[in-house]
Amino acid sequence: MIKDIITKSIEEVKQIQASTAEDIEKIRIRYLGKKGLMNDLFAQFKEVPNEHRKEIGILLNELKGTIQSKLEELKDKTTAVSDNNKPQEDLTKPANLLSLGSIHPLTAVRKEIIDIFSRLGFTVEEGPEIEDDWHVFSALNFPQEHPARDMQDTFFIETNKENNVLLRTHTSSVQVRTMEKQKPPIRMIAPGRVFRNEAISARAHCMFHQVEGLYIDKNISFADLKQTLLYFVKEMFGSDTQIRLRPSYFPFTEPSAEMDISCTICKGTGCNICKGTGWLEILGCGMVDPNVLEASGIDSNVYSGFAFGMGIERIAMLKYDVKDLRQYFENDIRFLNQFSSAL
Ligand code: DAH
Repeated sequence: MIKDIITKSIEEVKQIQASTAEDIEKIRIRYLGKKGLMNDLFAQFKEVPNEHRKEIGILLNELKGTIQSKLEELKDKTTAVSDNNKPQEDLTKPANLLSLGSIHPLTAVRKEIIDIFSRLGFTVEEGPEIEDDWHVFSALNFPQEHPARDMQDTFFIETNKENNVLLRTHTSSVQVRTMEKQKPPIRMIAPGRVFRNEAISARAHCMFHQVEGLYIDKNISFADLKQTLLYFVKEMFGSDTQIRLRPSYFPFTEPSAEMDISCTICKGTGCNICKGTGWLEILGCGMVDPNVLEASGIDSNVYSGFAFGMGIERIAMLKYDVKDLRQYFENDIRFLNQFSSAL
């Protein structure tokens, strides 16, 4: 009797079909639940006479195994089906692009300055950041006791009587290096890092960037200087920008001037940025002092030239309204991200 039930049940279980998790659970309860068939059969098994016990025991185990593997099989099928029901990936969707970071505002401005002067035929020159006294001071007509040579202003690496080794305080040193190795006509700009012994604040830093410019040829006049800088400013800040030159002093130029541009914010009417004056100072310039030409082996009776120097941070501050110099070097991506389309 019990043997018939078991063999019939084995056949029955093999035929079972179910596709939902709920149905599978019902089947499990029917066969393996507390009041299910298996428990019922185990109860009946106690009554089985000894001589049949072995045979019935084997059959019971076979039934249990069949039920368990059937349940596994049904479960596997339903998860496979539900995977198939998941929305398919849209293979025509555009890929997620890698985010590539952004161009640093100083890099963008540096490139723009180079582009503008390249259009006027200026080449790009480089010089070392670790310099000697000659290229930073002496060849540029700085007298021996000039305050710029002071420890308070300059980072000295090595001091000796002949030729101190120091971090360049301006890119004007590249003027000297270029004149030493090239014959006029010379038309070059030199972008680069410079270092000064300054306390770091919103308006000053011990490391910043400059672009030096130099034009040496026969018959170069102050008018050439003025026209070149006017062209630069109109390209950089817009064609309605104006310039004014104020007399100044640098050891390496004579005459020397500082150049202002009409305020980029208020266009010259007076605002906070230009402190009500309508003008913003952007660079120093002048006619190269004959002593400087001679120190680098250029005949000052034949050649003349102009030079200028500007701070890249300052130009970028005016262009992008950056209020604190320190932001350029903190690498805060909230700041840097704003310039992603700068080039
Ligand atoms: N070297 C000057 C500085 O660091 C900037 C400068 C002024 C450069 C006048 C020049 C120039 O070539 O003619 O402040």
